[in-house]
Amino acid sequence: MYKIRTYNTISVKGLNRFSREDYEVASELPHPDAFLIRSQKLHDMEFPETLKAIGRAGAGVNNVPLERCIEQGIVVFNAPGANANAVKELVLAGMLLGSRDIYAGMKFVESLDQQDGLDPLLEKEKKRFAGTELIGKTLGVVGLGNIGSLVANMGLALGMKVIGYDPAISVEAAWRLSSDVEKMDNLNSLFGRADYISLHLPVLDATRGLVSDNLLSGVKPSLVLLNFARGEIVDNSAIVRALDDGRMHRYVSDFPANDTLRHPGILQMPHIGASTGEAEENCAIMVADQLMDFLENGNIANS
Ligand code: MLT
Repeated sequence: MYKIRTYNTISVKGLNRFSREDYEVASELPHPDAFLIRSQKLHDMEFPETLKAIGRAGAGVNNVPLERCIEQGIVVFNAPGANANAVKELVLAGMLLGSRDIYAGMKFVESLDQQDGLDPLLEKEKKRFAGTELIGKTLGVVGLGNIGSLVANMGLALGMKVIGYDPAISVEAAWRLSSDVEKMDNLNSLFGRADYISLHLPVLDATRGLVSDNLLSGVKPSLVLLNFARGEIVDNSAIVRALDDGRMHRYVSDFPANDTLRHPGILQMPHIGASTGEAEENCAIMVADQLMDFLENGNIANS
């Protein structure tokens, strides 16, 4: 009997993979062979001696203490690419929120408390919600993996000029990426040329705080920076300085932070890039299958 302890909400279709009598799947299960997690942070948790594997139903594994897992011989699986389309689609929403005054405009409509005379009021006020279009603008994509390559190709489909930076693009992503994406070998040059920049990087020592005063010193005033990767990649105080100085236009982030919560140039979402039914299902199924293949056959994929 294999025991799988679950944390957070994992899609039912993923859990159903274990509906065989040689599996027991539950939260708070003693002596588990494996954990199945989504966003649960495991850094402060002592692992049971029986633990052999952790399945993370998502792409990033920064909520898992990888070094300790290596020391203790615990295999960690994730689901690269399984939620990439969901994130890409929310990046599109972020680009539109960054260039059209959708959020402020909707809040304005909500603030109107009477129907009488609405039309003339809207006609007068809507001038202040005018925005800009995506077509013809330059999109810079930093990180051309599963998500970044989809975002880059989407930019081309929207009629944008797309430039990309990635020091180590995988062969698979390179095949997927359109040859119309111009590869840059210098991040500062990408930051200097783009009207929109979308970040698609994991948190590593090399990427923590990467978007700093240095990178933001030469950006265009029209810049909309999109962070659907991880909050730690961006130095929030540098963003606030760049916005306050009029050096960039807007920051759209999927990682709300206390120090940026109420800045007029910052729009924040509650880490919902991967929160679609389809993505949750894809991720849960991918890690469930990997865990089963490991427990039953000793096979290791995507660890
Ligand atoms: C990911 O790393 O893929 C996302 O953080 C997934 C999630 O929202 O759970």
